[in-house]
Amino acid sequence: MPDTNLVILGATGDLTQRLLMPALYRLYRLGYARDLKITGYAVEDWSEQYFRDHIRKALHTFVPDYRADEGQAFCAGLDYITGSLEAGQMKEIGHRIKGSALFYLALPPPLFGTAAMALGEAGLAQASEGWRRLVVEKPFGTDLASAEILRKQIHSQWAEENILRIDHFLGKETTQNLMVFRFANRFLEPLWNSAHIAQVQISCPETLGVEHRAAYYDRAGALRDMLQNHLMQLFCLTAMEPPSSWDAEVLRDHKVEVLRAAVPFNEHTVCSWAARGQYTGGRIGSEEVPAYRQEPGIPGDSNTETFAALRFEINNWRWQGVPFYLRSGKRMASNCSEIAVQFRQVPDALPDGKIAPSNWMIFRLQPQESLNLVATAKKPGMEFATHTVVLTASYAQENAKEFSAYEQLLMDAIDGNCSHFLRFDEVEWAWRLLDPVLRAWSKGSPEEYAAGSEGPASQNHLLIPGHEWRPVTDPHKRDLL
Ligand code: BG6
Repeated sequence: MPDTNLVILGATGDLTQRLLMPALYRLYRLGYARDLKITGYAVEDWSEQYFRDHIRKALHTFVPDYRADEGQAFCAGLDYITGSLEAGQMKEIGHRIKGSALFYLALPPPLFGTAAMALGEAGLAQASEGWRRLVVEKPFGTDLASAEILRKQIHSQWAEENILRIDHFLGKETTQNLMVFRFANRFLEPLWNSAHIAQVQISCPETLGVEHRAAYYDRAGALRDMLQNHLMQLFCLTAMEPPSSWDAEVLRDHKVEVLRAAVPFNEHTVCSWAARGQYTGGRIGSEEVPAYRQEPGIPGDSNTETFAALRFEINNWRWQGVPFYLRSGKRMASNCSEIAVQFRQVPDALPDGKIAPSNWMIFRLQPQESLNLVATAKKPGMEFATHTVVLTASYAQENAKEFSAYEQLLMDAIDGNCSHFLRFDEVEWAWRLLDPVLRAWSKGSPEEYAAGSEGPASQNHLLIPGHEWRPVTDPHKRDLL
């Protein structure tokens, strides 16, 4: 059995310390990937010991149940190589590793192409024994044209089947359950279409601001940071046809089919089916927070959107006439992320003369992962009256081993399971749909919304008559309306 290596390019950076190393440490603790040889690679002239100490401190900070003895043992196995993104310098990696290797580009997005090409030129994309794979973070390009340039650069050295474009939402329990629940339960499929479903709302509000990522975020904005990847993936998984197998290619074909069937934006719909906002100062809980334009590192006249909402319609037999509303924003009233599917109302009045409220099926990602079905039931008592009940299946099981999205996806990447990674055409079609919005938004400025609020009022323009956004502040209350 050849050795398995993970080489992290950009090992001194933020992603490595906040997400990758904590995930690898947790896997190590749970007894997974114990034989994985982890090597950090970065331009900083650090010694191996300095790198290990740096990661140990990071684990201490970012892993809530960090244990010093295990942290020490995990870090003792880390290697570090100093080098730039030139092929000549990367050859050193080839001297230090043998066997299979996963190269993780934990680098600023403008460096993805350079790094992928240099790895290939250094002879690291091919192995005489074992396999070689490349993990590329998001965003993959900043629009359709730049994504195509990046594709060409990476494909000049790497075969598509060895490229794993990561979208951490695909590693989340709820996202994976969306597929299982949809396709493993007989009762759902006959209802999962425009005859029974009135609308779908995919909302990922966040209370966080831009944090320490001003340089990246101000160039990206909410549309590129959240909608183009995470939310459009959730959209595809909700709308796709049942696949004939769980094979990665079949799954990805089906997701692409959704994007191809989505009605493209034109100059009229880009105004009425898309909305953007930017937060001003406000209050999140008891904390007073500054406006986006006053955040450290953000230009005082920035027009970057911190909130984006889109409406999609899908031109196929299953979904014609059903709006899919997608939205995400920073500094909103809560972190309550969900995919909420509203069923059409039943025709008749209830025994108590009331009109039965619509059922909702809610796949909740945050704050706790759960599946909720909002239904109408008889109110206990002598009266033949009704009330709304919420049937909840929570994922948090006592003593269950929980894996974060990065843990799941790192294991998949090592195992060579591509199902939860994006193929280039998924990225390409997402950009195709969003390019007209990006072009329209390159002019003018986003509407202001107060930090801690429900977001800008213009998001309501997307809704068809009779639809309302589910409240960000307290969607649980909404369930019980
Ligand atoms: C990242 C975005 O991809 O996803 C961030 O760059 C965002 O801006 C994050 O905060 C949200 O992910 P999660 O897992 O915290 O919901």
